[in-house]
Amino acid sequence: MERLDLDEKEIAEFLDGLSAGRELPALSGHKARLATGRNGAIAASWGRDGRIEAHAVIAPHGDRYALETAVAPRLEHAEGERQVLDLTLGLVPRDAPFTVWAWRPSQQAALEDMGFVPLRAVVRMRRSLPAAPPRVPDGVELRPWRRGVDDEAIVAINRAAFADHPEQGAMTVDELVAVARVTGTEPDDLVVATIDGAPVGFCWTRPVTPQEGEIHVIAVEPSVTGRGLGRALVLAGLEQIHGRGGRRARLWTDADNGRAVELYRRLGFAQDAVNVEYGP
Ligand SMILES: CC(C)(COP(=O)(O)OP(=O)(O)OC[C@H]1O[C@@H](n2cnc3c(N)ncnc32)[C@H](O)[C@@H]1OP(=O)(O)O)[C@@H](O)C(=O)NCCC(=O)NCCS
Repeated sequence: MERLDLDEKEIAEFLDGLSAGRELPALSGHKARLATGRNGAIAASWGRDGRIEAHAVIAPHGDRYALETAVAPRLEHAEGERQVLDLTLGLVPRDAPFTVWAWRPSQQAALEDMGFVPLRAVVRMRRSLPAAPPRVPDGVELRPWRRGVDDEAIVAINRAAFADHPEQGAMTVDELVAVARVTGTEPDDLVVATIDGAPVGFCWTRPVTPQEGEIHVIAVEPSVTGRGLGRALVLAGLEQIHGRGGRRARLWTDADNGRAVELYRRLGFAQDAVNVEYGP
């Protein structure tokens, strides 16, 4: 395969073509936005006879680089994936720490053959709708987000609930407001659980397609977990997704978050994809 010098439109067409009709997009949203190498990312395309068959993005991510590759169906087997990974690894700055994110089973197989070690796995779970209506525990009230009023409390609950996952716990009020704006979040899309009027948990959902919604974040203040709030919040979120016309719901969670995985499984979700982060 030869290296190709393509413009933004050609790369986008390739990635869109690969994503069409697939359950997962060719590159994650973050990498897709960096697909042309902006914001310090390194990007490269390869192919034959001028036709693109593979694209890679090496993006700065905290203290290291995160790599992702997208390949044409012809290369979607361990051998083809390995060829593209070898080309991509050749572009990582010398001695820079990096990890590779992979969701295609063929790419996972190639990385394992190459001696890479799985560091973290994020699973996607899905279920159809409608689900049962929420049963709200005694003393708890569920209500829509009060924009501006609840923001500090939501950020504090998120920080406390995700104390072990600094990346997810790091949301600031500014980020909450910005993401709510970009995703078109209405107050009903962010259900807040309160005890004696004080917010203690929330479930934030958003549509991803007209037929499907996603549980974007769910968190319960650690001092009140185990009382049924998580279950009630997930069901309230599912009710909201269904009310917006969603026929299915999905979410991503760390595979090692056993409590959350078990909660979702008991609420009818089943795993349908796994994205694995590998280290050299
Ligand atoms: C996951 C989380 C939302 C659950 O909230 P919660 O209020 O404890 O949930 P519930 O009380 O409804 O319990 C949910 C299930 O966990 C089980 N559970 C409760 N306490 C538990 C414990 N200490 N250990 C294991 N399981 C427990 C319950 O039996 C319940 O199952 P059931 O309803 O079938 O009986 C909450 O722990 C949390 O915010 N965690 C941190 C953030 C997070 O991980 N979010 C999800 C990431 S996608």
